Amino acid sequence: MHNTKLRPRIVDDERCRMSEKRNSRRRFLLGAAGIAAAPVVAGVAGCTSNEEPSADRTSAPTGGGGTVATTATTLAGRRRLGPLEVSSIGLGCQTMPGKLYGPVSSRDNMITIIRAAVDQGVTLFDTAEVYGPLESERIVGEALQPVRDRVVIATKFGFEVNQQTGERGGLNSRPDHIKQAVDGMLQRLRTDYIDLLYQHRVDPQVPIEDVAGTVKELITAGKVRHFGLSEPGLQTIRRAHAVQPLTAIQNQYNLLARDPEDQVLPLCEELGIGFVPWAPLAYGFTTATINPTTRFTENDFRASVPWFSRENITANMAVVQLLQDWSVRKGVTPGQLSLAWLLAQKPWIAPIPSATRTSHLLENIGTEEVTFTGDELRDFTAALNAIRVQGERVPAPVLAGTGVEARRP
Ligand SMILES: NC(=O)c1ccc[n+]([C@@H]2O[C@H](COP(=O)([O-])OP(=O)(O)OC[C@H]3O[C@@H](n4cnc5c(N)ncnc54)[C@H](OP(=O)(O)O)[C@@H]3O)[C@@H](O)[C@H]2O)c1
Repeated sequence: MHNTKLRPRIVDDERCRMSEKRNSRRRFLLGAAGIAAAPVVAGVAGCTSNEEPSADRTSAPTGGGGTVATTATTLAGRRRLGPLEVSSIGLGCQTMPGKLYGPVSSRDNMITIIRAAVDQGVTLFDTAEVYGPLESERIVGEALQPVRDRVVIATKFGFEVNQQTGERGGLNSRPDHIKQAVDGMLQRLRTDYIDLLYQHRVDPQVPIEDVAGTVKELITAGKVRHFGLSEPGLQTIRRAHAVQPLTAIQNQYNLLARDPEDQVLPLCEELGIGFVPWAPLAYGFTTATINPTTRFTENDFRASVPWFSRENITANMAVVQLLQDWSVRKGVTPGQLSLAWLLAQKPWIAPIPSATRTSHLLENIGTEEVTFTGDELRDFTAALNAIRVQGERVPAPVLAGTGVEARRP
């Protein structure tokens, strides 16, 4: 439980009433998420596990497989990515096939979680051809088919992927390949249009003008509605945007990976492009559930992330400590605080945390209740700036594929 005595004294009566109202809704959300008694401040040591705790499940209103947790509140906040309106918090669906971070509870539960997210007001769902591979799109397609017109489905092309076996090869953003990939996506997603289609990584061999021109054709054909790039070079953003206006850039952005702040976010602001932070919880680290005693299970991608190596993780716990201190002070969880900090950076930022447990989904949605005053934002950010994060955000070969410029036509 959070120690409410540690909350800051509020001087203004009106602010006090509003804050109490927010806190009671927050307490409700936290309670509904089954996290009131969770050790959010102490952190959780030991191995990660992907079993869905039964306490997360409260009722089954949507008719999907498994059960659904519900609360009486919904995510009301909306944000604009360029011309596209989405919920302020989206749902990343990469981990749902149970490959990236190890096994998940069950496929049915993943469908249930996606439908619970819809019930809670989430409209932005993020997937990609290579997640699974193919399987994440299948799960998303099955889960969202009944509510297709109410949600925004974002997916990504850019690699060789065998459409039958899912076997993955290297980069491929040649126009004919993009068109084939999109046809496969539409089938798996059980839809006749993709709301937001990203190039997953820049293919340096293919001019971005050709890629943007192909997406433009797909938009004209009605198969795609919006265009995005993930981890592109700066000039590639400008060149793509000149051919087909970009709706969103999707780059890694979280309390440890602040690379976008120098150049990418200012460029998005200049061009009116929205920004979608991937791994907004730093792979779960900023929820205070990973620490130096954590042993990732076999095949968990995080075992290869330099931040979490034996030599780096202890130093990086300074970020978690900062979050824990402030979460006590504000009566929220470290994960909520870290998502709220992202939301506070720009009104056109919409993070897409993954969740394969209902309690995590609900906790993340509860972020909407968390606000920073100007002073708090300044003080928190100053303390964060003083921490030197050790290690890279992704393994070296993955890093080499980011910030790449496409060749000129
Ligand atoms: N464009 C790209 O190149 C790219 C790359 C990577 C990811 N992405 C997208 O970004 C999405 C999110 O990235 P990510 O999954 O790598 O990282 P993330 O969202 O930062 O972290 C996900 C991890 O945090 C845990 N978690 C979530 N909410 C939690 C909470 N409230 N309390 C405790 N733990 C919580 C999840 O656990 P559970 O699973 O147990 O709930 C999972 O282990 C992906 O699904 C994908 O859509 C894009």
